[in-house]
Amino acid sequence: MKFNLTHFAAASAFVALAGAAAAQTEIKIGYALAPDSHYGVAAQKFEEVVLAETGDQFSFKHFPSSGLGGEREVIEGLQLGTIEATIVSSGTLANFVPSTGVFDIPFLFSGLDHARAVLDGPIGQDILGEFDTVGLHGLAWGEQGFRHITNNRNAIHTPADVEGLKIRTMENPVHLAAFDAMGAAPTPMAWPEVISSLQQGVIDGQENPLSVIVSVKLNEVQKYLTLSGHVYSPAMLLVSKPFWDGLDDDQKAAMEKAATEAAAAMRGYVDNVETSGVETLKERGMEVNALSAEEKAAFQASIKSAYEGYYDTYGQELVDSIVNFE
Ligand code: PAF
Repeated sequence: MKFNLTHFAAASAFVALAGAAAAQTEIKIGYALAPDSHYGVAAQKFEEVVLAETGDQFSFKHFPSSGLGGEREVIEGLQLGTIEATIVSSGTLANFVPSTGVFDIPFLFSGLDHARAVLDGPIGQDILGEFDTVGLHGLAWGEQGFRHITNNRNAIHTPADVEGLKIRTMENPVHLAAFDAMGAAPTPMAWPEVISSLQQGVIDGQENPLSVIVSVKLNEVQKYLTLSGHVYSPAMLLVSKPFWDGLDDDQKAAMEKAATEAAAAMRGYVDNVETSGVETLKERGMEVNALSAEEKAAFQASIKSAYEGYYDTYGQELVDSIVNFE
């Protein structure tokens, strides 16, 4: 066969296409919840802005619903450089950057505005910066909302109602200490095991914000919802440090812009579900009660011994400066 101009043009086009495809970097982004959750909405916003800012330099592959494993495994994948990005709760973050655990202290924040101001302020930003020392890069703080208790045993009004309750906590020593002090029987567990453990009665309950309870349809496996708001639940948009270090300045700026918009989308979702979530869950058949101020104070008093441990670990000055932050 003679090699003519048509063959040459086709070959050149193929080489150009292959070059473009090779130049495009795939971003695998993993998260524990569904595409229509606060994490899914944030991940889609992140992709949308990165693509708008950088043209065809990146492509995205989403792994929702723990498609890449539990949050700890995904973070380890980022450290290894086998996964580029994730959105995670603070569940296991303190195992990587211990100071992050200070935000997991129960009854620390008075409301969403207070928490957001601290995370966006110097204390939150300094802790975000620490992730660069452990093979990760923290792009932005997002959030899930305040965590509430669900269970199948009884409605909860007082610490006596959680006595011996087999409750799943995140793999988070700060949360574990609080539920221990309350008199519950906490079991730390990775999220992918939680639904089957509830179905099989291995645990009676779990705690998560309305954003999770609604989007995961926890009403299908849990009867009682107690609006305890016992702890704020931050989230973080993290990327792999090896991936981050390979980006040029324009690409880094695009990722930062995209992360800020993704975090805003996540907070918008939370604002929405905080107002509509309780009605949705009642309609789906859950028995809901909200702790009164006095009931909440009794829970706060019940974890006094855990607070002594928190002061030892994080320093009372830091804890107080967060409580009093304006
Ligand atoms: O409970 C947890 O582990 C987390 O809140 C979840 C549901 C995985 C979201 O990050």
